[in-house]
Amino acid sequence: MNVAGRHLVLVGMMGAGKTTVGRALALRLGRQLHDSDAMIEKREGRTVREIFSDDGEPAFRAIETEVLAEALVDDEPAVIAAAGGVVLSEANRAALRASNARVVWLRADPAVLVERVKSAGHRPLLDDDPAAVLQRMYTERESLYREVADAIVTVDNRSINDVVEAVLR
Ligand code: S3P
Repeated sequence: MNVAGRHLVLVGMMGAGKTTVGRALALRLGRQLHDSDAMIEKREGRTVREIFSDDGEPAFRAIETEVLAEALVDDEPAVIAAAGGVVLSEANRAALRASNARVVWLRADPAVLVERVKSAGHRPLLDDDPAAVLQRMYTERESLYREVADAIVTVDNRSINDVVEAVLR
């Protein structure tokens, strides 16, 4: 995939490996990695969990829209790891479409995602019954990821290197 001069945006569910793969891709391409959750936490001086519990999800989503737009307008081509919920907003999907970015959906089976998110406690939406929540989210979001994606890379049981190669292919 030709990403010269364009942002490379990774989308996909929580646990799909956007941040890890994004870091490897940024290194490989000699680019900066903009991780939307990290941008939000830096800007707010609070964790994602704190923002969810203090201000609620809609407030978090509004900040998310702002940081995505900010990352997309950066002139310097970067790798952007966009958090799982970015596709929920029509404004975000439109911003992705309107940008010249290459958008790759890192697709993982919900059962694989459950295993991957087990040890992580930083995702407030997965506090109760992660398996059921991930399955429901996947059903709700699948068509939205597909809508924004220029390419789909299945990540189930693949190494980071293998996924990086597949994204760049
Ligand atoms: C969310 C994904 C998380 C984080 C928040 C909500 C979602 O980011 O923004 O917990 O709704 O899918 P990651 O996809 O980076 O885990």
